[in-house]
Amino acid sequence: MLKGKTALVTGGTSGIGLATAKLMHANGARVVIAGREPSKLESARMEIGDNVIALEVDVLSRASLTKMASEIKQAVGQLDVFFANAGVAYVTPLATTTEDAYDALMDTNVKSVFFSLQAVEPILREGASVILNTAWLNQVGVPGRAALSASKAAVRSFSRTFSAELLPRRIRVNAVSPGLIDTPILRGVGQSEHPGQTEGEFKEYLAGAAKLIPFGRLGRPDEIAEAVVFLASDASGYMLGSELVVDGGLSEL
Ligand SMILES: NC(=O)c1ccc[n+]([C@@H]2O[C@H](COP(=O)([O-])OP(=O)(O)OC[C@H]3O[C@@H](n4cnc5c(N)ncnc54)[C@H](OP(=O)(O)O)[C@@H]3O)[C@@H](O)[C@H]2O)c1
Repeated sequence: MLKGKTALVTGGTSGIGLATAKLMHANGARVVIAGREPSKLESARMEIGDNVIALEVDVLSRASLTKMASEIKQAVGQLDVFFANAGVAYVTPLATTTEDAYDALMDTNVKSVFFSLQAVEPILREGASVILNTAWLNQVGVPGRAALSASKAAVRSFSRTFSAELLPRRIRVNAVSPGLIDTPILRGVGQSEHPGQTEGEFKEYLAGAAKLIPFGRLGRPDEIAEAVVFLASDASGYMLGSELVVDGGLSEL
């Protein structure tokens, strides 16, 4: 589905990003992954397969993003696919959230998406596909999730505006909207509500969350990867500015 295409996945070292990088690779793409942790980058590179480029990047740093784009240009030339996936998730209750915690979440989930795309836009090929990672929370109100939900609503909005802005270059921008997906990020969401939570309590949180999902279980990273590969491929060639919801019915039913 992606034969001959070159794809960049930020946050490609874990969870949804790693599963997507693997599926893109299996579908014939040349894959570049970006993440902060050298050891995670190396193990992801080995896990994904041959010919993968792993770059140490902090999406919070514009200098790091500029360096990433120039390294990609040097190594592979242009990009056909960009999955802006790196992100964080933790609770931000109205009463107790500090300004630093608010800024850290918004900077990673919103500002870094804007400046990641700004950095790679010059190396996107005409007709490229950009996929932004939003979340089911962009449509519903859940206590303690104000900053996270608003950050993902901003990302949902970006997919519309960037689509309009990049239309002259026929670059399509769409969003994927995962529900609750079983990745390491959930530990942050589950545990910061109850600092010091034990492993058993965390499992209880997951079991309780699963009951809220019409499908009856959390999603798997590979189920989001399938949607991203579709959005990355020519099969979705008439879609732009849209949101593909993959959440077991969580935000829709
Ligand atoms: N899991 C869910 O339930 C769910 C639901 C909806 C949306 N999402 C979204 O899906 C995306 C991926 O999350 P995930 O669930 O796969 O979580 P994850 O397993 O924790 O992966 C997060 C990835 O983001 C990277 N990252 C975080 N901050 C970064 C930074 N400053 N610079 C570079 N990379 C950074 C991490 O790499 P390093 O650790 O190496 O920095 C890691 O590869 C996020 O945007 C998240 O909001 C997840």
